[in-house]
Amino acid sequence: MRKDWWKNAIIYQVYPKSFLDTNGDGIGDIKGIEEKLDYLVELGVDGIWISPVYLSPQVDNGYDITDYRKIDPMFGENQDIYHLINKAHKHGIKIIMDMVANHTSEQSVWFKESRKSKDNFFSDFYIWRDAKDDGSEPNNWGSNFGGSAWEWDQSRKQYYLHYYAKQQPDLNWENPRVRQYIYDMMRFWKAKGVDGWRMDVVTSISKDQNFPNNPNPHKKPFVIGNQNNGPRMHEFIHEMNQEVLKPFSIMSVGESPDSTSEDAQLLVDPDREELDMIFTFEHMHVDRAKNGMNGRWDLQQMDLVKLKRILSSWQLNLRNHGWNALYFENHDRARTTSRWGNDKQYRYESATAFATILHGLQGTPFVYQGEEIGMTNSNFGIEDYEDIELTDNYRELVLEQKTISKADFLKAAHKISRDHARTPMQWSNAKNAGFTNGTPWFKVNPDYEEVNVANDQTKENSVFKYYQALIKLRHEDDILIEGAYELLYPEDSNVFAYKRTLAEKSWLVIANLSDKQLKIHDYLPQETEKDSQIILANYLDRTNAAGILRPWESMILELS
Ligand code: GLC
Ligand code: CA
Repeated sequence: MRKDWWKNAIIYQVYPKSFLDTNGDGIGDIKGIEEKLDYLVELGVDGIWISPVYLSPQVDNGYDITDYRKIDPMFGENQDIYHLINKAHKHGIKIIMDMVANHTSEQSVWFKESRKSKDNFFSDFYIWRDAKDDGSEPNNWGSNFGGSAWEWDQSRKQYYLHYYAKQQPDLNWENPRVRQYIYDMMRFWKAKGVDGWRMDVVTSISKDQNFPNNPNPHKKPFVIGNQNNGPRMHEFIHEMNQEVLKPFSIMSVGESPDSTSEDAQLLVDPDREELDMIFTFEHMHVDRAKNGMNGRWDLQQMDLVKLKRILSSWQLNLRNHGWNALYFENHDRARTTSRWGNDKQYRYESATAFATILHGLQGTPFVYQGEEIGMTNSNFGIEDYEDIELTDNYRELVLEQKTISKADFLKAAHKISRDHARTPMQWSNAKNAGFTNGTPWFKVNPDYEEVNVANDQTKENSVFKYYQALIKLRHEDDILIEGAYELLYPEDSNVFAYKRTLAEKSWLVIANLSDKQLKIHDYLPQETEKDSQIILANYLDRTNAAGILRPWESMILELS
């Protein structure tokens, strides 16, 4: 097998808490993942990324880890995951675990020790600073979940840094012992058979040791500044590569929030030996108002021209310099059909149109659980939301600072809240969508009677079947893996169209990302003849490249 097996792989992300519950406690578990291996084989994926299942108080749904080497009892036992890894390997499926090493839970022994005193073994495992003379925070840094990024600790009489919730203290990567502890943990999991790591906010691990205030144009009490690409980031990641990733051939995909494709060139250039791929956020911000007071909650209409420009810059800048990780959904993103598509009249069409665009690109596609059946956002009231990001931001922005009205906040939440991705997986139209026999920990989306796996497996045209076909196509034809990329009609605000070319062969990937009726003819490259062969299409009656491009119609054609 090629060393870079991930280049023609499709990876499926499982959010275990919401995937499948096998013991009736209402919470998905590791045995539930094992039970669905056959399903994943049927879909055709090559690997699964499992969101954190380690011991955790679940303040941030497991992204607050108490013990990196222990499975949380709510998900099962360590033996369950060892068993899952082996069984997945027998099915030809790789296992990618989630490594959350920018921070731990405050319950971690490391932190419990660290907060005791300034001179014990763990004292410098976290980022501690004295208060200013007036007792206030060391600087104006804001937390991603609202408020200050500093929390006062009464026992140690210092502040500690937390980019996320205050129960998620940031580790001090300046301390070589911290780094060695992390590398050891990675070796531990390698010994259990893990094939790769998804690295949570890995580009945040290095902090500017001068701790300067962030620019504060809106005069807010605390501001979230640039938390990424700190001074020693490349050095730390390269060290991790040399210590663990390279010697054990472990695949890596780092979460890299503010990265541009220029930043990526450094992080994923194979010669630099850092990471294999990164997840950028750049293309996911095309519906965010620029310089709004309320960060992610200031939304605007999705800008397709911008989306095309950003995805294209990644395609071109990483060509021969690295490899793309492709995604629209994950556990932090709402459902694409509801956010950018049409989840009412054209749910199937818009889900498959976005899939066509994503899977036609060069890179490794990541499919998030439920995306392959076109799951949608739920219709939540404020009391239904569960995510700490949302509840903390709501308190701060709506109730305290009043910079956004409740109605506008809810409108934004309905589009983008992370909770939409975390509702239970919809397996069938049985009770609780077949997710649990007990009481689900989080409300099942009431559309499950129609939107579910069993239904999609039996229908002739379903989002699931379309994903199967896309995945098969990538496995069978190298043009989608290796072919050169060229964007067509960059300024068109309805259609996303591009060419992939490998040797003599050229494919056109085209999607109408609107409710409008358009003419195909207007979008075919000059040299195309109308007997171009249809490779794949989401309207099943499509037989040639002529006529009307219907709402959300998408296809891949071989140009002749
Ligand atoms: C990443 C995770 C997100 C989590 C945050 C803090 O962005 O994907 O779910 O809240 O890091 O760990
Ligand atoms: Ca369970």
